[in-house]
Parts: sequence; C-alpha cells; structure tokens
Amino acid sequence: MSDALPALAGRGIRLRPLTQADAADLFDVFSDPRVMRYWSREPFRHLDEARRLVEDIEAGWRGDTLYQWGIEPDGAGRIVGTTTLFQISTAHRRAEIGFALGSAWWGRGFARAAVERLIAHAFETQGLGRLEADVDPRNAASLGLLERLGFRREGLLRERYRVAGEVQDSVILGLLRTQWTPP
Ligand SMILES: CC(C)(COP(=O)(O)OP(=O)(O)OC[C@H]1O[C@@H](n2cnc3c(N)ncnc32)[C@H](O)[C@@H]1OP(=O)(O)O)[C@@H](O)C(=O)NCCC(=O)NCCS
Repeated sequence: MSDALPALAGRGIRLRPLTQADAADLFDVFSDPRVMRYWSREPFRHLDEARRLVEDIEAGWRGDTLYQWGIEPDGAGRIVGTTTLFQISTAHRRAEIGFALGSAWWGRGFARAAVERLIAHAFETQGLGRLEADVDPRNAASLGLLERLGFRREGLLRERYRVAGEVQDSVILGLLRTQWTPP
C-alpha cells in the first residue's frame, strides 16, 4: 500500500490527496449554503469541522472505507472541491460516489472532469463493477452531471434524510462498468 491516495490527472484538473493545509479551502466549500442546500448535513460553521474532516479522510483512507480527493483546477494553486468514493465494498465490487464544488467555481466543467476521472479510476484501477449515487430529487445540477456521465436513475427512496427540520427524499442512480464508455 502506498502512503497516500494517488494524484490523478484529468482534463484541466488534478485530483489530489488532502492535508491539513487544505482545511481553510475545504471550509470554504462545506460552509457554502449553496453547496450544502441538498447535502445530508448542515453547512460547516467552524474551521475545526474542516480540520476534523481531513482527519476523517485520512482515517478513511487508512481503513479503505473512504477515498476523498481534492479537486485542483490547473493553475489555481488550491482545491475548490472534493470528490469521493465511499461505502466501498470489495466483495461486491461497488462503491458510492460523491462530489462538491465551491459555488464560485460552478459552470466551468471542473466537476464533470473530476467525476469523469474518478469513475475511470474506480473501474479501471480499482476494478469496481458498479458505482452508485444518492441525490436529492430537487438537485438538478447533480442529477444533470450524473446523467451526462451515463448514470441511470434506479429508484426513489422516500423521506430518507432529515436535515435542519426538512425531510428529504433520495434518487438512487447507478452506473455499471459494462455500460460505461471511457471518455
Ligand atoms: C453538482 C455540482 C458539482 C456541479 O458543478 P458544475 O461546476 O456546475 O458542473 P460542471 O460545470 O462540470 O457541469 C457538468 C454537467 O453537469 C450538468 N449540470 C450542471 N449544472 C446543471 C444544472 N443546473 N441543471 C442541469 N444540469 C446541470 C450538465 O450536464 C453539465 O454538463 P454540460 O455543461 O456539458 O451540459 C455543483 O452544482 C455542486 O457542487 N453542487 C452542490 C453539491 C452537491 O449537490 N453535490 C452532489 C450531492 S449528491
């Protein structure tokens, strides 16, 4: 096992491991109410939450339960979001994917490039056969991105989350290695 997640080069971006030096940039992303509108938890309020997230990411990597990369656009010199493989099941060769980008960076293709690269890594390097995503049905940007990349809607789970007093449904989407076309 290497001592960190590999850095992965994509189109105009790099996926790279996160360290405590990224905590302030992670805080920017996960304290942004527009980013967190359909998230399964409320926005961060304190920088310490971002520091704890880095600790959880490091522990997740060591335990092979969660792989979370920073998304760094070429030339930006900082991370502007993250993308994640979690709920990893080696036995069933599947995992769930997640992604978030600071709202100042939306609409420039960075999320698409990042998730495209993550999918290729999951299928080609990690040997997974199925990826899943769990999205609020009102989250048009996330659904649009996933469907653009070949994910199909597989079902609606009702009243799956309660966040800040609001009940949220989930659309479950899936992408199979056998139906995936490499970019
Ligand atoms: C989802 C998110 C990462 C998309 O970021 P983005 O910068 O707009 O994405 P990109 O510019 O890379 O766009 C990629 C594709 O997403 C889709 N998309 C983006 N915004 C969309 C919108 N508002 N409605 C429909 N589709 C949209 C499009 O298919 C687009 O491809 P195209 O431009 O070739 O048509 C961003 O909105 C975000 O961080 N949202 C908050 C966090 C979140 O909800 N994460 C997912 C939890 S399940």
